[in-house]
Amino acid sequence: MTWLITGGAGYIGAHVVRAMTAAGERAVVYDDLSTGVPERVPGGVPLVVGSTLDGERLARVLAEHSVTGVVHLAAKKQVGESVEQPLRYYRENIEGLRVLLDAVTAAQVASLVFSSSAAVYGMPDVALVTEETPCLPISPYGETKLAGEWLVRATGRATGLSTACLRYFNVAGAASPELADTGVFNLVPMVFEKLTEGAPPRVFGDDYPTPDGTCVRDYIHVVDLAEAHVAAARVLSASPGRELTLNIGRGEGVSVREMIDRITAVTGYDLPPTVAPRRPGDPARVVASADRAAAELGWKARHDVQDMIASAWEGWVRLHPEAARS
Ligand SMILES: NC(=O)c1ccc[n+]([C@@H]2O[C@H](COP(=O)([O-])OP(=O)(O)OC[C@H]3O[C@@H](n4cnc5c(N)ncnc54)[C@H](O)[C@@H]3O)[C@@H](O)[C@H]2O)c1
Repeated sequence: MTWLITGGAGYIGAHVVRAMTAAGERAVVYDDLSTGVPERVPGGVPLVVGSTLDGERLARVLAEHSVTGVVHLAAKKQVGESVEQPLRYYRENIEGLRVLLDAVTAAQVASLVFSSSAAVYGMPDVALVTEETPCLPISPYGETKLAGEWLVRATGRATGLSTACLRYFNVAGAASPELADTGVFNLVPMVFEKLTEGAPPRVFGDDYPTPDGTCVRDYIHVVDLAEAHVAAARVLSASPGRELTLNIGRGEGVSVREMIDRITAVTGYDLPPTVAPRRPGDPARVVASADRAAAELGWKARHDVQDMIASAWEGWVRLHPEAARS
């Protein structure tokens, strides 16, 4: 099969491309390079520079490469930015998806895997988030992911397209230093940045109803996440008309304080964190039930938080050599 990987020059997409090609699938990357970098696309994998808003171009690429499946990762992903620029997020994430689905169904592509997010759940008040937990997103970003799932499922039901919506929890780590996330939008790189500046990392709120008072999250290694895409692609290819909606996490909660302790141990920086007020919209605990993904895909995460931090740190030091301690 040939898979079009939209957003394949991005952080997660670059890992998905490698996992798919390592599994023997052909891949073509489609990316507007708004945040992606061409160097992340491996040699031998065609890179087409274009936007998901450009239906004619998409139709040409699907036909020219005889694409049989699509993994759709191309999107804007910053929660705060989505609050400031909701129309841009709806255009890129929803209109971009609608245009893509139009081209995909016209070309009779068989399968589509969609990058969704734990952000669809908003502020879940449960110990383990299952796929049945109500979806009540609290940001325009989360709304675009939920509405994206609706579009994907409705299109699948109407046309027979096999679909999988994968709700990623907190993604971290890298397969190799050059594939590390270059953005500073989540906990691990935010702590790296502070430590490298010689400043203490910040904990936002230590009075949550959790064992150590700090927020608890479910971290997933990007290599495991990429493997989940391969497993989903395999299941969809084998069963036309299939519809999957799955959490992709480890089912294990780690607190902000525990993460900072582990980061301190890996990096050799020992700056005790300072406590800042809670941030609005931060739920106390968001941890996936990973049971459905295990049952439907035969997939399970293999890497732990230590692997995530160590590999992310190698990537950080590559970009910031002055951060290395020894
Ligand atoms: N990183 C996370 O923690 C996380 C968590 C949950 C979900 N996701 C989702 O995973 C996907 C990939 O995220 P990432 O972390 O790799 O982000 P990223 O910014 O590194 O990758 C996104 C890629 O899509 C491309 N792109 C953006 N808009 C496009 C458009 N309209 N047309 C064509 N290409 C476009 C960018 O150039 C980039 O290469 C996104 O859909 C994101 O919402 C990410």
